[in-house]
Amino acid sequence: HLDPFGTAVNYLDAAFRNVRNLGIISVTSTDTSSLYAKSPNVTLRHYGCHIVRTEYYKELAARMVVATVARAAARCNKGIEVLLAVALEHFVLVVVRVLRGPVQADESAKKLRKLMHCQWCEERVFLKLGNMVDGKRKIADESGNFVKKLKSDAALDHPPFYYSIHRHSIRGMNMPKLNKFLQYLTEAGFRVSRTHFDPTGVRTDATLLQFKSVLTKYSVPTCTNASATQTSVSMEKTV
Ligand SMILES: *[C@@H]1O[C@H](CO)[C@@H](O)[C@H](O)[C@H]1NC(C)=O
Ligand SMILES: *[C@@H]1O[C@H](CO)[C@@H](O)[C@H](O)[C@H]1NC(C)=O
Repeated sequence: HLDPFGTAVNYLDAAFRNVRNLGIISVTSTDTSSLYAKSPNVTLRHYGCHIVRTEYYKELAARMVVATVARAAARCNKGIEVLLAVALEHFVLVVVRVLRGPVQADESAKKLRKLMHCQWCEERVFLKLGNMVDGKRKIADESGNFVKKLKSDAALDHPPFYYSIHRHSIRGMNMPKLNKFLQYLTEAGFRVSRTHFDPTGVRTDATLLQFKSVLTKYSVPTCTNASATQTSVSMEKTV
């Protein structure tokens, strides 16, 4: 159980060199300023990642730790199976089972992906191995279809990352309750779930544009007086 002051990166090599096959390593990291993108220079030094602060920063932190752990394991010809990944306010905890052997090491190493985040449209996609795209401009210009394609290419068991319903709420409109909204997204054909990383987060395979269009459809104008109330009630019925 690694629980050092701050980052655990300096202890990973020793831990993975010594652990037995099927042993379990638990890594607690309290360097939240670098993990949560408040000191990106330190993030780059310790985790080899260029990051910016995003709405899904906690999941990104957990994934950076997992990736760093997987690389340390691979250097000792070991792979990992992630048993638990948690990111709370003051720490990130990752627990993995160690799988000995070069084949397992290769399999874990091959799962590591580069993530591309567009600061303009806030979309995010994993790149396939060897897949290069002309980042910002292409995502921003053709966001809808281009991102949809990259996302369906990825088609992972669990859609990575999440959108915060609060962050994307529409000004002057009341949004639906989170559980209702999850139901509307499901009815629109998307996979959804909630996430411990953010109580307002929605994990889904919808693109941000699709997410926003469903959110808009089921939001109603904020009522300020009696006649406005009347309007929103009748709108809800037509919806
Ligand atoms: C981070 O690094 C850049 C150069 O890459 C430097 O200009 C900047 O001052 C650094 N920031 C801090 C807070 O050290
Ligand atoms: C009430 O709502 C109506 C329709 O939205 C608007 O025309 C009117 O000015 C509002 N009255 C007040 C007092 O805000």
